[in-house]
Amino acid sequence: MRRDIAELFELDPALTHLNHGAFGAVPRSVREAQDRARTRIERAPMRAFRDDLPAALAAARESAAAFLGVQPDGAALVRNVTEAVGVVLQGLDIGPGDDVVVSDHGYLTAGWSAEARGARLRTARFPVDADPADVVAAFAAAVTDRTRLVVLDQITSPTALVLPVAAVAAAVAPVPVLVDAAHVPGALPGLDVEALGVAFWAGNLHKWAYTPRAAATLWVAPEHREAMRPLVTSWSHGLPYPERFDLQGTVDHSSWVAVPDGLAAWRDLGGWEQVARNADLLLRGAELVRAALGTRAAHGGIPSAPCLRLVALPQGVADTTDAAEALWQQLYAAGIVVPPVAFAGRGYLRLAAAPYNDEDDYARLAAALPGILGA
Ligand SMILES: Cc1ncc(COP(=O)(O)O)c(C=O)c1O
Repeated sequence: MRRDIAELFELDPALTHLNHGAFGAVPRSVREAQDRARTRIERAPMRAFRDDLPAALAAARESAAAFLGVQPDGAALVRNVTEAVGVVLQGLDIGPGDDVVVSDHGYLTAGWSAEARGARLRTARFPVDADPADVVAAFAAAVTDRTRLVVLDQITSPTALVLPVAAVAAAVAPVPVLVDAAHVPGALPGLDVEALGVAFWAGNLHKWAYTPRAAATLWVAPEHREAMRPLVTSWSHGLPYPERFDLQGTVDHSSWVAVPDGLAAWRDLGGWEQVARNADLLLRGAELVRAALGTRAAHGGIPSAPCLRLVALPQGVADTTDAAEALWQQLYAAGIVVPPVAFAGRGYLRLAAAPYNDEDDYARLAAALPGILGA
């Protein structure tokens, strides 16, 4: 770990952290800002909920919108992408008789939530080394005349690919598209949410933009805003979108209050220059690990996320969910936090690069793997 940067976080120095994408890591200064927000609320809860929080939450929501480059009237605060998916499914009143399209590279939350509402899932399938045109064709082929929503990860959860969102949205139109952008804020440069041609876009701020957990933005296209309601409805009555998402009864709002502190920490850590440094580090780190494994590059025509990428494991290693879980535990026992992923009958490691990582972290993984896999 880079000691100077690692000191800004509270990560256990005994572990090699190569899994930033899973839960993020909150810088100490941001955790302290959230603590201060909590303390202020606890000193006078009545004052906080009546007088302070409305303005603080509006400011937080607007700072997130500015960070993402969207107009403030389109962006609501939610706790995470899973909540955003629930809001959209509820707002569109999706249920029995409806189809929802997901992909085999998608995080499971959208599919589970849609099924729980009685909708039928249709799955777009494509290999890790597909070309963008294959991805577009797979989504288009999964759409039926009953399809009410298409959900796709902008950065795919298990496989770390950057999907061609705008091309998929154009191909499935007029079916509305919900983009699961959990890994995108602060991690994918050049983002223009409003130009993607999608109806809904939800991104976690607590993964790569250094806000406290749980803080996320749900952006909604103008024609759908009126129908969107928070899942926790208290105090939303009569308010327009997106203000109606701000005060959600007696939940802990402190993670949202500290959103501007997290985004400031992202800038202080180097902003997009820091992302470029991490992307370069990850290329070198992944190559170290790949060379130690003696496998071929995992990717084809779809680009990997800058700070998240797969390295293929040898044939037969971690190629099922159970085997991937067993390898995860072996790596963890060796002090290395990195997720093995079983995808389409093949095992991979999903490596991340965060500001606190350095080449030694990947070298440690590369050195440990032959022994672990040999055993
Ligand atoms: C693409 C994607 N979507 C959603 C999630 C879940 O995020 P949350 O628990 O914040 O809803 C993850 C978690 O890593 C993810 O990778």
